Amino acid sequence: MSTFDPPTDLLPRRTADGSFTLHSAQLDVFYHSVNGAVHESTHVFIKAGLEKPGKEHIDVLEVGLGTGLNLLLTWVRCLEGKLTVNYTALEPHPLSAAQLEELAHCDDLSWPGLHEPFMERMTSASEEPHPAIGGLTFRKLPTRVHDFAADAAFDVIYFDAFGPNTQPDMWTVDVFRRMHTALRAGGALVTYCAKGEVRRTMEAVGFLVERLDGPPGKREMLRATRNLSH
Ligand SMILES: C[S@@+](CC[C@H](N)C(=O)[O-])C[C@H]1O[C@@H](n2cnc3c(N)ncnc32)[C@H](O)[C@@H]1O
Repeated sequence: MSTFDPPTDLLPRRTADGSFTLHSAQLDVFYHSVNGAVHESTHVFIKAGLEKPGKEHIDVLEVGLGTGLNLLLTWVRCLEGKLTVNYTALEPHPLSAAQLEELAHCDDLSWPGLHEPFMERMTSASEEPHPAIGGLTFRKLPTRVHDFAADAAFDVIYFDAFGPNTQPDMWTVDVFRRMHTALRAGGALVTYCAKGEVRRTMEAVGFLVERLDGPPGKREMLRATRNLSH
């Protein structure tokens, strides 16, 4: 059973590319890289994850919706007409509307008309899928990843948990086995984390793991693919 207590002292911080993230002094943790929140999310989750399969439709699972930055960057790709996405996000500790407004992610990405549907989806208590807008259908679940079960339902998993030093129970055999089962054959989990121990845990549940170049400030990241044969 997880003993994780969400931080109660979150404050916005500007990162090196001008976009904002959240910082907790209690946990000594940032929600994104201080070297650039948008740069990191684009590099790790969009380029190495969403855009890798080259498919017209992608089912995405995000572990740790947080500020919704990965959702927004995915949505913009859909609005640009690049693909359509069914997006399922897990977030047991959702942020408040006031915290989200302070970050102004929508201002940064400046896509007209996105702010209202974004805020509506991020703050909704409904677990039902919201109607598709701009090629993206969104569903938010309050489920902990430890309790989430799906079978061959996703093409890509954005694994955006707090790091293993902050929340070690997110990086276990049990969690990665769930993630492996949730992916379709050939589907992949991407994460900013490149720790050797994490890579070995992924391999232990059957993933084929690649070490890719990391975003600014990080040497490497990981992409873990479910084998085509099982
Ligand atoms: C690094 S932050 C996510 C950053 C986010 N993707 C963004 O773009 O802002 C990690 C997130 O994992 C969430 N989390 C904590 N425990 C979790 C659990 N058991 N299952 C799923 N998510 C969890 C936290 O509440 C937090 O929002």
